[in-house]
Amino acid sequence: MNIALIGYGKMGKEIEKIALERGHTISSKIDMNSQDTFDGEGFKKADVAIEFTIPDAAYGNFINCFERNMPVVSGTTGWLDKIEEIKDYCENKGQTFFYASNFSVGVNVFFEINKKLAQLMNGVDGYDVTMDETHHIHKLDSPSGTAITIAEGIIENLDSKNEWVEGVDAKDGQLHIEAYRRDEVPGIHTVKYDSDVDEIIIHHSAKSRKGFALGAVLAAEYAAKNKGYLGMSDLLKF
Ligand SMILES: NC(=O)c1ccc[n+]([C@@H]2O[C@H](COP(=O)([O-])OP(=O)(O)OC[C@H]3O[C@@H](n4cnc5c(N)ncnc54)[C@H](O)[C@@H]3O)[C@@H](O)[C@H]2O)c1
Repeated sequence: MNIALIGYGKMGKEIEKIALERGHTISSKIDMNSQDTFDGEGFKKADVAIEFTIPDAAYGNFINCFERNMPVVSGTTGWLDKIEEIKDYCENKGQTFFYASNFSVGVNVFFEINKKLAQLMNGVDGYDVTMDETHHIHKLDSPSGTAITIAEGIIENLDSKNEWVEGVDAKDGQLHIEAYRRDEVPGIHTVKYDSDVDEIIIHHSAKSRKGFALGAVLAAEYAAKNKGYLGMSDLLKF
């Protein structure tokens, strides 16, 4: 399969390694000031584009792909205010878009455990739930896209929470998220249910970016063969 990489930073480079290991070809690499462009031969040859850039650039990149009928896999976080427009491109204009706030298979198992735990805790009195996430100091958005997905999983399943807040004291109905930025941490997420007598903690810690890159390449293989608005629950058949 020919893959176009949009964004050749830390993730783009990690994805390239895994894609080559899995027998794919990188036909185009588009980054700031790169020679490759959306109208270049390499991009035209691609079966799918993988986009890991910055929040401000992501939406424009998706539209550039859609205008050329190119399926897109994106892991860029911090642009979700535009999600309905992207879904519209998939549902009404025949485009394919695969998004995951986190491409790690382990994190996606964690998402499911988190939802199940919230369902169980919904019937139990005396616990309050809080979250924290830690990432490297270069991360532009806060809280992480992964933390937002975890928070949504809790809010959908726990009647006592109806919105999340970051870094400020939570009022009634609010789920508190604390975001820390430290060194080169690839990503740590913790959900804690605390009571007077005990605490229940679920925790995921990524050891490197490799798990995200593998998930993104698996998603690209899936997006090249399937149409519409896709996500990890389609790929992993949860
Ligand atoms: N979903 C996931 O699993 C996952 C995992 C890790 C990182 N991320 C997200 O992926 C994004 C990229 O992370 P990273 O660690 O590779 O960052 P990075 O800063 O190392 O790389 C970003 C790259 O995008 C390039 N870029 C900026 N504007 C561009 C544009 N208009 N067109 C093309 N390229 C452009 C930059 O020059 C840079 O090379 C971030 O939003 C991060 O939060 C998601």
